[in-house]
Amino acid sequence: MNKIAVLPGDGIGPEIIAEALKVLDALKADGLEIEWQEAPIGGAGYDAAGKPLPDDTLNLARQADAVLLGAVGGPQYDTLERDLRPERGLLAIRQELSLFSNLRPAILYPQLADASSLKHDLVAGLNIMIVRELTGGIYFGQPRGIRDLDSGEQQGYNTMVYSESEIERIARSAFDIAQVRGKKLCSVDKANVLEVSELWRETVDRVAKDYPEVEVSHMYVDNAAMQLVRAPKQFDVMVTTNLFGDILSDIAAMLTGSIGMLPSASLDAQGKGMYEPVHGSAPDIAGKDAANPLATILSVAMMLRYSLGETAAADRIEDAVGKVLSQGLRTADIAAEGDKTIGTKAMGDAVVAAL
Ligand code: IPM
Ligand code: MG
Repeated sequence: MNKIAVLPGDGIGPEIIAEALKVLDALKADGLEIEWQEAPIGGAGYDAAGKPLPDDTLNLARQADAVLLGAVGGPQYDTLERDLRPERGLLAIRQELSLFSNLRPAILYPQLADASSLKHDLVAGLNIMIVRELTGGIYFGQPRGIRDLDSGEQQGYNTMVYSESEIERIARSAFDIAQVRGKKLCSVDKANVLEVSELWRETVDRVAKDYPEVEVSHMYVDNAAMQLVRAPKQFDVMVTTNLFGDILSDIAAMLTGSIGMLPSASLDAQGKGMYEPVHGSAPDIAGKDAANPLATILSVAMMLRYSLGETAAADRIEDAVGKVLSQGLRTADIAAEGDKTIGTKAMGDAVVAAL
């Protein structure tokens, strides 16, 4: 029996997770062996247990075969002490479970080609995989803080650090993926300025020797951002640091027309993973039945495929999502001008019907 931990989180998190669970319920009725238990994280964790990653939630996640997460964060938590803010819960679970390899596909569904802000021919057929390092770099580097200077003013500081072993394992993860895709890997850094990037580049080149079939290139992050909007189809797999990956994956998401369509996986060395939509908690539309549940539903498909080995069920979900898009069903975020839109629940129901 596959056991999963479901962490709805904040904002639109509970609504989109509810639709994903409808889909899992339908698969279960057809014989998929799966059970789940829910627990709070983020602001919901703070409300329930006084911290963004409650101990019970972490224990549940540790015992599960995979974790399904909605989203965290909301304006009501922004004034909390930094360590209690919802985002810290997300960072903590990534670190506690050693989920160092974050896969963020940016795929343009042909049905949605007009939703992209780029010209049709630039993005038609787009299929990029961004592999983002997720448990190191400036997000976790010490020292960090805000200190008082003798001059009387304050100074904020963070540290971007990567050890060779951290670079090596994320590089291997990316090469493994490139190997089974288009065999092209672009490593993104800032080696013209940062020593940490110099080591990154050297280490990626060393790992590359074990993957002679994969064509490797290196790009500075500023250029990579530009190339992503200039000619995105030049990329197959990109591998980069935690911070650069955060930024580039938002750009890549927008190329596809809607961040509301994109799932993600965060994997440890054994392939256990946490699955979540790339978008955030969208507090402005929370509770309005306006969010797009498809990124979360597609995250379930990724979970079935990557952590649970349930390929057939994953295929069924992805096919069903393709079908509802072909039927012209659109939530507001993926609607073109003049399209009639449907709500979160109706979209979830449509996917279940299309299964
Ligand atoms: C993401 C988010 C998070 C990050 C935030 C919410 C901490 O932007 O998953 O991309 O920066 O990693
Ligand atoms: Mg981000």
